[in-house]
This record gives sequence, C-alpha cells and structure tokens, in this order.
Amino acid sequence: MPVSLPHSRGQASPSKPRVRPLKGTTIVTRRVHFNAAHRLHNPEFSDSWNEGTYGPCNNPNWHGHNYELEVSVIGEPDPRTGYVCNLSDLKQILGEAILTPCDHRNLNVEVGFLEGVIPTTENLVIAFWNQIAPKLKSGRLHRVRLYESERNFAEYYGPKFRGDALPD
Ligand code: NI
Repeated sequence: MPVSLPHSRGQASPSKPRVRPLKGTTIVTRRVHFNAAHRLHNPEFSDSWNEGTYGPCNNPNWHGHNYELEVSVIGEPDPRTGYVCNLSDLKQILGEAILTPCDHRNLNVEVGFLEGVIPTTENLVIAFWNQIAPKLKSGRLHRVRLYESERNFAEYYGPKFRGDALPD
C-alpha cells in the first residue's frame, strides 16, 4: 500500500503541493566589515578639553578602526518565501548605504551623511540606522550594532526605544 504523504498525493489528486507557513516573529541579521579613519573632536571646546575627553582618539592626525557592523531586521516570515527579509537584498542595501560611502574613508571629512557629526560609535549607529531604515523592502529595522573594537560596541534600536525596556 503506497504511503500517503501530506504534501504529495501522487496521481490520486492533481492538486498542487502546498507549503505550510509558520507564524512567529523572528530576527535576521547580516554582518559586514569595513575600516575607516576618524577623529573624535568637538571644535566648540578647547584643545585641552578635547584631549582630556577623547585621549588618543583626539589625535589630530587621525586613527583607524576595523569596524564590524551587524544589522538586524524583525518581522514574520513571508508565507510565500519563508523570509522576513531577503538577506541578499539586505547585503545590497548595506553595500550602497554604508560600505560604499564609509569603507576606507575618513568618517570626519569624506562621508556626506556624517557631516558635522562627532563619529563616536554611538553617533555612528544612529546615523547608520537613519541611512538603512528607509531602504528596507520588507521587515523593519530592529537593531544596528557596531563594534569599534573586539571589546567596544554600541547598539541602537531606533527612535522609539527609550531605554527603559528592551523592545519585543
Ligand atoms: Ni577611534
């Protein structure tokens, strides 16, 4: 006696195989790498204030970091694709929005969307969010996390996150 598979009724029925979408909110993440130069300096304050506040990061001759950027998108998997967001689309968005303008650049002087911004890791995650969020085609931006070094990173959950509770 033939085995009756739920999605394959063989010749007994001409109906198409069906997929079974699953409900549930999930988060997908893409990680990219870039390196860039910067200087932490607030020109509204004195040189000694800047040296005291930023230490070696205030070096007037710049310094560089190997940045690791993680971008997470949240949503329910599309019942047709099973994707919250197509990661190859996200890869392309991150390339155009972040890597092309920032990789191997000086963040203080070469990146239009950072003009006038002190390029701390904190400010970078906010600026990167603002660049990425409008370009997403599906899902919504959940978190932007940027490692400035192996031990130091900042993350941003968007303008609605007040910090008194982690978002769902
Ligand atoms: Ni630095």
